[in-house]
Amino acid sequence: MRIVRTLDALRAALAEFRAEGASVALVPTMGALHAGHMALIDAALAMGHGSGTRVVASIFVNPRQFGPNEDLARYPRQEAQDAAMLEGAGCDLLWAPSVETMYPTGFATTVSVAGGLTTRLDGAARPGHFDGVATVVAKLFAQVRPDCACFGEKDFQQLAVVRRMAADLDLAVQVVAVPTMREADGLALSSRNVYLSPDERVRAPALPRALEAAARAIAAGDPVEAVLGRAGAALAAAGFVVDYVALVDAGTLGDPVPGRPRRLLAAARMGATRLIDNMAVEQP
Ligand code: PAF
Repeated sequence: MRIVRTLDALRAALAEFRAEGASVALVPTMGALHAGHMALIDAALAMGHGSGTRVVASIFVNPRQFGPNEDLARYPRQEAQDAAMLEGAGCDLLWAPSVETMYPTGFATTVSVAGGLTTRLDGAARPGHFDGVATVVAKLFAQVRPDCACFGEKDFQQLAVVRRMAADLDLAVQVVAVPTMREADGLALSSRNVYLSPDERVRAPALPRALEAAARAIAAGDPVEAVLGRAGAALAAAGFVVDYVALVDAGTLGDPVPGRPRRLLAAARMGATRLIDNMAVEQP
């Protein structure tokens, strides 16, 4: 696996892949890789179209998607370990630009998806976060020009924002959603799980448990407000401070629409660590 850090080197490597007739699959990450990211690489490898796929992973801890009081400085950085994992998983190229390469002096453009998709839920709790995500993903798509790009369903709102942005800008990239990977006790894999103390780690699976119970109850026809209230109470009892537990339309993330797929989303803080998770809700 080659590691490239400049746009010229990236373009040269991509030109070789294209000359071979390969399609290109992108896996954007912020590093601190775990099995969930490896599932994205597997999905990217599986996207092969006849002539084969080359998988490009990016590692870039994007300062524009962190709020002023968030964890940019302490976000785990472990590039050598990440590169070894990517190589083992069959990744062909690692794009690891510096902040200066991504945002050189004078950089002045923001890609902003308007409306509830970016202002509700995590958008309300983390103002500006999705502008940072849309801007960096638009740049990655422009730099790599992938045929497809794989994103985890764990960041369900991010996935919806990226889909909207790619569709609105007529970007010829297929956005592929990859199911969330979980620990044996149900906790969704996340680079931020390392922040949890041993005691917090024991209590954290209350989040997927509460979502699973709520998804079952809603599918069984229980009144939604009461179910969401019970989920919030279960999270509080486990020591979480709840940001939101919401039932939304799985496409727009707005209010649920009868007959359309629904999704339960939650964000809650365990000590200093903010966790998010989500689950599909069966139609009654
Ligand atoms: O999900 C992530 O790791 C990041 O938000 C992404 C998509 C790589 C953009 O920085």
